[in-house]
Amino acid sequence: MKALVTGAAGFIGSTLMERLSAEGDSPVGIDNFSDYYDPEIKRSNAAFVEACGGAIIDGDVNEIDLDALLEDVDVVYHLAGQPGVRKSWGSAFDVYVTANVSATQRLLEAARRVPTRPRVVYASSSSVYGNAESYPTSEVALPQPRSPYGVTKLAGEHLCRLYAANHGVSTVSLRFFTVYGPRQRPDMAFTRFLSAALRDEPIHVFGTGDQIRDFTYVADIVESIIRAGTADVAKGSVYNVSGGGSHSVNEVLAVIEDLTGRAVQVQREDAALGDVSRTTAEITAITSALAWNPSTDLRTGLAAQLEWLRSMGTATSDWS
Ligand code: NAD
Ligand code: UGA
Repeated sequence: MKALVTGAAGFIGSTLMERLSAEGDSPVGIDNFSDYYDPEIKRSNAAFVEACGGAIIDGDVNEIDLDALLEDVDVVYHLAGQPGVRKSWGSAFDVYVTANVSATQRLLEAARRVPTRPRVVYASSSSVYGNAESYPTSEVALPQPRSPYGVTKLAGEHLCRLYAANHGVSTVSLRFFTVYGPRQRPDMAFTRFLSAALRDEPIHVFGTGDQIRDFTYVADIVESIIRAGTADVAKGSVYNVSGGGSHSVNEVLAVIEDLTGRAVQVQREDAALGDVSRTTAEITAITSALAWNPSTDLRTGLAAQLEWLRSMGTATSDWS
């Protein structure tokens, strides 16, 4: 199996590259080292991946010769994108459209052209649901994004369905629910919370902290991605991928206090525009189709992320 990973220097992409390398696959990745967060973090992820045996091309999915890149590829794990729910308003929207919609369309066009007809596994998002119709939310619920980011991730998913139905591209879309663990992006909650706790600085909580997420550990996400790469499922399939246990932000703070042995200082901020009040996934579809189940609970996963941040010496570097 020859794999191409887009977004290979990012949080989830680098973790996937590490796992594929450990399995002896010599994976190839591509990343444009965008400046949404400090590109030096991505350079350091890339150096780690290369030390594990993977290779990352510095390039843009919207520009590179994809036909040449896909020539002998069996599966594309398409993780490249512009993440971040709260920053997708205003003039930033163009960046979201280019990275999440145009790049996905360009990749699907190439996938339909090349003779190997690779499977395309698309990194979709729980943000397509918005405040969902019901919980736990199944894949048939009406998607109603609450952020421009969610709109672009849903558009990418619709493109996958279209290219599957009209051009026979073998797409599988995975709706990831708030992913955490080592190398989590610096704009995401757990990296911000844990770094602040280690530095004895206030943790900024948006809104009441009663908002609930079905937090998912990154190794479980990577396992689902790899299974989706080869599973015998219908072209155009869509699956939720979640941690299987929903927790409020306030519950997370209590676990952090327990793990660090310190009381956290909390600074309340206004609720963030675009934030949903709850995500909780129904995961029976992926369990039955890919024989996949989450295996890491919140406390275990948070402890691993804390350990990673400590090893990075984050108490003196700026991860917030
Ligand atoms: P990330 O920002 O760490 O990784 C994305 C990578 O894609 C970055 O390294 C970036 O430089 C690269 N990239 C962006 N546009 C590119 C382009 N045009 N060409 C090449 N590379 C490009 O984000 P992440 O958290 O690892 O998320 C990976 C994917 O999963 C994204 O598509 C995101 O929307 C999706 N997702 C993430 C989460 C989560 O909780 N982290 C949840 C749901 C979905
Ligand atoms: C995350 C990712 O950032 C998105 O890219 C992804 O698509 C999405 O998950 C998803 O599941 O689809 P989010 O749930 O907002 O989005 O993840 P976090 O940044 O970890 O935030 C979790 C909660 O903590 C949110 O309610 C947020 O408002 C809150 N938060 C975050 C704070 O209270 N303070 C902070 O400093 C950061």
